[in-house]
Amino acid sequence: MLENNESAFVEFREVSKTYDGSTLSVQDFSLSVARGEFVTLLGPSGCGKTTCLKMLAGFEEPTGGEIFLNGRPVGRVKAHKRNIGVVFQHYALFPHMTIAENLAFPLEARGVSKDAIATGVKRALDMVQLGQFADRRPAQMSGGQQQRAAIARALVFEPDLVLMDEPLGALDRRLREDMQYEIRRLQQRLEVTMIYVTHDQGEAMVLSDRVAVMNEGKIQQVAPPEVLYDEPTTLFVANFIGENNRLDGQLMEWGDDLCRAKVHDAGVVQAFPVAVREGDVHTSLTIRPERVELNPTPGSVANVFEAVVRDVIFLGDHLRIHAELLGNSQFIVKIRNIVGQGAVLPGDTIKLGWLATDCRALDAAAPAESTLAAPN
Ligand SMILES: Nc1ncnc2c1ncn2[C@@H]1O[C@H](COP(=O)(O)OP(=O)(O)O)[C@@H](O)[C@H]1O
Ligand SMILES: [Mg+2]
Repeated sequence: MLENNESAFVEFREVSKTYDGSTLSVQDFSLSVARGEFVTLLGPSGCGKTTCLKMLAGFEEPTGGEIFLNGRPVGRVKAHKRNIGVVFQHYALFPHMTIAENLAFPLEARGVSKDAIATGVKRALDMVQLGQFADRRPAQMSGGQQQRAAIARALVFEPDLVLMDEPLGALDRRLREDMQYEIRRLQQRLEVTMIYVTHDQGEAMVLSDRVAVMNEGKIQQVAPPEVLYDEPTTLFVANFIGENNRLDGQLMEWGDDLCRAKVHDAGVVQAFPVAVREGDVHTSLTIRPERVELNPTPGSVANVFEAVVRDVIFLGDHLRIHAELLGNSQFIVKIRNIVGQGAVLPGDTIKLGWLATDCRALDAAAPAESTLAAPN
């Protein structure tokens, strides 16, 4: 990870963007990307991902802050001089040109010699296994092949930086998964710096060295996939990445590595204080379904509560139990399917437990009965 910004190849420094002069589509966006790194911007539709890529590519201008490429501000550099390869979801191939002509285009624009163009196009097509399709037009190829050609076109001039905006969005699931691995392999082999955009958390997890989770124009957290999953720092990230149970609590006590919150007037939950400070009243406690234990050994975990089973779903290697616990009627538990484990049936009262360290005390969910803002 980056320690200082001098080693950053791409840096967004407090970048903001408004299209209409009032709403901020991107707000105080700061992100450093190292050379050779694969960083994904992940977030729901409308959170500002495409706007960030467009500003970096030179198709839009920031209204605040600055973007640096290789240590230099890009503000005055025209889009085509930035040496960035782009694949946008709707940035289609030229339909009237063959695939080889499509790939030759960015090389011709850069004044590359005829011989070098022929070699470069062939190499790029082989790289995405489209060698035999050089003379086809886009309409004569499948969606997946067209998108591979678009990727080859973004790589053919050996850019230092490649931007991809939901490039697999139009493909079916199977093909999308194959292409994810292909993109990752290509990026690693070419050691090219990649900034990738998706709203699909699975895709972000598979591809990225680091993921920047965005919501409403702002970065929520930037971290490697496993850190986002295990150590979310905001409620938004805890919910957006994987599944989480949430219990809304009122803080009673807090220290450096333990806090206690009252939930549903009934239980006192012990948790790890991630984003709560002295003075906060409300918190959202989150626990991953696979970190919850059924009938824990007495004394082994700090949190043990009774729950009423609503539903049990058998999923082969694990069971998924839906239960009501401390007022949360959608509490989910994933239990490994182990031979000899007693049956759990709807209507049963069971004991569920979890460690204080597996329970993260985060910013409170949007205020319901109180006027307190969520600490951020
Ligand atoms: N050209 C534009 N003119 C006005 N508003 C825009 C324009 N492009 C995007 N927006 C707005 O900016 C916000 C962020 O959009 P966008 O960057 O496309 O998000 P994402 O790619 O995450 O879906 C949205 O509210 C969107 O409506
Ligand atoms: Mg977009």
